[in-house]
Amino acid sequence: MAKTNPALDPRGQGPDAPWHLIESRTPVFDEVTVLSDQLEVKGAIPPELNGRYIRNTANPQTGWTEHWFIGDGMLHGIELQNGKASWYRNRYVRTPQYANPGADRLELALDPETFTFDHSVSAANTHVVGHGGRILALEEGAFPYEVNAELDTVGPHTFDGVLTGSFTAHPKFCPDTGEMLAFGYAQVEPFLTYYRVDAGGKMVQKTPIGVTGPTMMHDMAATRDHTIFMDLPAIFDFELAMKGGMPIRWSDEYPARFGIMPREGADADMRWFDVKPGYCFHTLNAFDDGDETVVYGMRIPEIWRDSSAMALDAEVDPASKPRLHEWRFNRSTGAVSEGYLDDDSSEFPRIADAKQGYEFRYGYSLGVTGDGTGTSGMGGALFKYDLAKAGSKTVHQFPTGHEPGEPVFVPAAGATSEDDGYLMTYVWKPETDTSYLVILDASNIAADPIAEVHIPRRVVAGFHSSWIPDPR
Ligand SMILES: [Fe+2]
Repeated sequence: MAKTNPALDPRGQGPDAPWHLIESRTPVFDEVTVLSDQLEVKGAIPPELNGRYIRNTANPQTGWTEHWFIGDGMLHGIELQNGKASWYRNRYVRTPQYANPGADRLELALDPETFTFDHSVSAANTHVVGHGGRILALEEGAFPYEVNAELDTVGPHTFDGVLTGSFTAHPKFCPDTGEMLAFGYAQVEPFLTYYRVDAGGKMVQKTPIGVTGPTMMHDMAATRDHTIFMDLPAIFDFELAMKGGMPIRWSDEYPARFGIMPREGADADMRWFDVKPGYCFHTLNAFDDGDETVVYGMRIPEIWRDSSAMALDAEVDPASKPRLHEWRFNRSTGAVSEGYLDDDSSEFPRIADAKQGYEFRYGYSLGVTGDGTGTSGMGGALFKYDLAKAGSKTVHQFPTGHEPGEPVFVPAAGATSEDDGYLMTYVWKPETDTSYLVILDASNIAADPIAEVHIPRRVVAGFHSSWIPDPR
């Protein structure tokens, strides 16, 4: 049954509508299921791709949010089976926030008598991952939410009650052990807690980590033997929290540091390294190279000094846009070296999951081109970096105005090299306000797509995606 919202907040519409609620980011209000006879396929879907491609998005039910990051989570999935697209569906994640449209998050979550938070209050809007036989919709301020293979909500997931606080939207998955490494951050102590979940989904480690204060820690990194935390000067501001919106601001006083600890270690094993002040929403990968730990990520020199606006269009100073950056930490001497690897801006970096934590060659990302074809600044292109060639890149350029999202690498069956596989993302097509799933050859991303699955609807531009293959 379609659900519509008849009472949209006018602040989300018209010429003054904010950047995060227009064009490809315009919310959709009904939940639909589109079957294969209404999905137009161009090219040939590789028959070995059996599973679901799912993107999580912020999609405020009221049509309005103060900030891009806080809208109600909506999942957009497409199932591929034996060379055919079986269905597309979009579903809200059923959370207390969903059940109370437009309600104040703090009022929903905070018990004023005990000053404790209900971590089932979530937007569940940031990422969606598969682990331990479960599909989890993630948002960093709350518990994960389990959904089923048809995107219907099962409920909050607490790892049998071991998880009592927030859980990052960016866990790392060890290709050797199947472990999920994660963390949660909080506005009260302990500000940071490290989690390790075994391949079967059991939380086997929960370790408080000492940091300077409450920050927004969006991502982490992990090598085969080390876990890496980014303690950066985007700090929690209680006054901003009381006003609603994004309660984070830049600090010139807060130290910028990366912490490296053994994967199964404790706070006493942590070693901190000072870095240039800046922010990194997303790491690409990390690995150990002898005494050095190397981290790649998308760095910006500063975040949210005067406001938490997110526009990345041509008006924004190119030097302030996210760019691929390398940090090298010598665990023996304490020395740090760092620098950008590309002048062009990109975000939403991904790798072949089999290379997580290991020396690797290829990284994929979404070009932040600001090419004037839309206001998002995220239009146009996917990048493929070759780290063996000093970060040189190849580009897939989409037709003018088309907006891809985060590229997800899916290995070919029996893959024989790191980039033997596919690159998948949803692309928004402004001329029809519809979207399509594109499948590129990851070994030759500049080539024409292998296949496109056209959906007679807009798949809202959003955050992170996963390919969740059928169980084998
Ligand atoms: Fe993210």
